[in-house]
Amino acid sequence: MDRIALAPILRGAIMELTGAPVFLAWTQDVVDSAAPLSQEVLELATSKLHQDASPLREALKALQNSHGELPQALSTPNGGTFFLGASYDAAQKAMEAAPSITQHFFLQHDQATPSSGRGDVVKGRIALVTGGAQGFGAEIARGLADEGAFVWIADINEEGAAAFAAELNASGSTRAAAVAVDVSDESSVQAMAATIVAGTGGLDLLVSNAGVLRAGSVLQLEAHDFDFVTRINYTAFFLVVKHLAAVMAAQRQGGPTQSMDIVQINSKSGLEGSNKNGAYAGGKFGGLGLVQSFALELVEHGIKVNAICPGNFFDGPLWSHPENGLFVQYLRAGKVPGAQTVADVKAFYEAKVPMGRGCYGPDVLRAILYCVEQAYETGQALPVTGGQVMLK
Ligand SMILES: NC(=O)c1ccc[n+]([C@@H]2O[C@H](COP(=O)([O-])OP(=O)(O)OC[C@H]3O[C@@H](n4cnc5c(N)ncnc54)[C@H](O)[C@@H]3O)[C@@H](O)[C@H]2O)c1
Repeated sequence: MDRIALAPILRGAIMELTGAPVFLAWTQDVVDSAAPLSQEVLELATSKLHQDASPLREALKALQNSHGELPQALSTPNGGTFFLGASYDAAQKAMEAAPSITQHFFLQHDQATPSSGRGDVVKGRIALVTGGAQGFGAEIARGLADEGAFVWIADINEEGAAAFAAELNASGSTRAAAVAVDVSDESSVQAMAATIVAGTGGLDLLVSNAGVLRAGSVLQLEAHDFDFVTRINYTAFFLVVKHLAAVMAAQRQGGPTQSMDIVQINSKSGLEGSNKNGAYAGGKFGGLGLVQSFALELVEHGIKVNAICPGNFFDGPLWSHPENGLFVQYLRAGKVPGAQTVADVKAFYEAKVPMGRGCYGPDVLRAILYCVEQAYETGQALPVTGGQVMLK
């Protein structure tokens, strides 16, 4: 039995039964007190031919009925054991306590986690943010963790992702984990998907945020720079959706009413052209084509796919890095007539926004929460630009 294939189906089935999110931990040890799942129901649930998880749900229901609750440990015929928890820490703790485990499972959430209404939609859920080590990605990851989600911080900058996860976990409970990935490399994305399933059992929200920018005139930009930008901003979205939507679809196979979300962090440059920045805008425009197409296809798996098109994040590293941020670059290049300082360049760009300021992480987070909360929308591109770009 392939536990990576099985885990999300099992997670979906458990969530269907309990109506609450769950985390799965796994050990290959045999735990005597675990409730056994039969070969037959697991084969039916995972077989490519049958894909019928209803016997698995019925088996779980029978266990629930006979114990009064779902047992916290479920063993599989070839020896491995899954541990269930209402949080990452609860599932890990159950696994650590395995030999002495009592067969009780309460789906109660950590009441200490505060939430502000809209954030309830991600509370206790499992999220993934690519490019989560800095910039918008870090703001989104922090915001989701603050709303009570568990967040996988995926980044090519392994050290940065690990340090940021440690920072989020410093408060005590485990709210985040780092996973190294190059989103433009399919085998790396595949390994990331396996790490996520092995660590938590599945995924509820994918935020595809990793992105790069190499500006340049069409007359001068090197083809390899164009390819680099396209590979990360456009192709990688396909790769990430391919491997993570498969995990989500498996959850839906286990639980036929489960709903999941993919949110692409696009850009206002996905809605209108960007002068001497064609590689970036082209990839972002293309991203919306993928969002719409994947939305049509994945609706049958209970997955909504939407894009958020933020305006410029002036306070983030891309613009404000003191050595190579865009403000410094534009000042040096004399791009803004009369500008003497970085502050002059920033004021010039802020004046282009009707609302007079750049976009912040919480602006984007609010839009993500809206996309998750809104059950009746998919395939949309939501501008978050302070009025700078409006839909036609
Ligand atoms: N900064 C802005 O003004 C702005 C505006 C609109 C949209 N966006 C979009 O928001 C997203 C984030 O932008 P940002 O400005 O925060 O960027 P950033 O450069 O600050 O951070 C990007 C993160 O992605 C990671 N990354 C880069 N290549 C990767 C790869 N191949 N695999 C995995 N991780 C990789 C980086 O290590 C970094 O942590 C991008 O999609 C960008 O297009 C940014």
